Amino acid sequence: MGIVVCTADLFPEHLERLKAAGHEVRLFDRAGHDSLSSILATVDALICLLTDPIGSELLNQALHLQIVANVAVGCENIDIAAAERKGIVVTNTPDVLTESTADHTFALLLSAARRIAEADVAVRNGEFPSWGLQQPLTGIDVHGTTLGIVGMGRIGAAVARRGHRGFDMPVLYHSRTRKPDLESELDAVQVSFEQLLEQSDFVCVHVPLTPETRHLFGADAFARMKPTAVLINTARGAVLDEAALASALKRRVIAGAGLDVFEQEPAVYPELLDLRERVVLTPHLGSATEETRVAMADIAVRNVLAVLSSQPPLTPVTV
Ligand code: NAP
Ligand code: GLV
Repeated sequence: MGIVVCTADLFPEHLERLKAAGHEVRLFDRAGHDSLSSILATVDALICLLTDPIGSELLNQALHLQIVANVAVGCENIDIAAAERKGIVVTNTPDVLTESTADHTFALLLSAARRIAEADVAVRNGEFPSWGLQQPLTGIDVHGTTLGIVGMGRIGAAVARRGHRGFDMPVLYHSRTRKPDLESELDAVQVSFEQLLEQSDFVCVHVPLTPETRHLFGADAFARMKPTAVLINTARGAVLDEAALASALKRRVIAGAGLDVFEQEPAVYPELLDLRERVVLTPHLGSATEETRVAMADIAVRNVLAVLSSQPPLTPVTV
């Protein structure tokens, strides 16, 4: 039986399941005296969050560690190559969060286009403009406009389905590999990154954060976009250059943005906070529904139970 340390705030049922399998569960106290590296020296499994940097130095302290189970699909917080060298399994939580994150992406898209966040604040402040043809909070149409997906993976495809089926949107996509099935299902068209920027009304970002995608969207990319276009990012903050984005929004190079992720979370680039018109910000809530968070914890625990009983992990991540 093993020792499992959790930095993640697992649900009671999941803690019980680990204990019922005979494992000792230790909850990592972030405010406590012990560092994660000293704790890792003696444990067999780590269940962690995307906010925990698990680098090679930390992994080198881990003398018995068999698995790092990240409760997230994105794993850029873990040095996967270093883990592989040490024979430590890394797992993530794909699929179960796809639809919830796609819902949130579309919520941001609609909210930015129809200025829902601005309108909510106005009503609460007693600013209820009289009905007129030229309302101060006039938005832009979503239905029938062109949706551009950057990174046509699980979440990208789920967002594309919402756009195509629900809002009659032609879908363009840019991804590393062609997706013939999605092209037949959604009439989606693969284009270059530049073509996608130039032709899309809504650009949704769904690539993982990698050395290739870091600051994929900078001043040049924003300059290529339509001045009426809205950018939605529920992937990772650093895929965008936030300073360049704030400048593009301020100068109306693009029309709006919906952002769930930020380069230096929990900090938000200050100039983005000042922008309100067609700009909607949420604090990394993509997968944050009750059902999905339980499902994510469930996969992480099942991965740990499998690896600690010498079974293959359900959702391994490799370099
Ligand atoms: P996924 O299925 O792996 O999809 C990612 C897609 O991006 C793949 O289709 C991939 O390539 C494509 N891609 C990778 N590098 C690329 C590049 N350089 N240029 C163009 N396309 C590239 O992952 P997912 O489950 O959809 O999740 C996507 C990301 O969303 C995660 O990595 C995570 O960072 C983020 N996320 C955020 C939240 C949130 O709470 N906001 C929740 C869940 C996930 P191919 O074309 O080869 O398929
Ligand atoms: C959340 O951001 C995830 O990667 O699951």
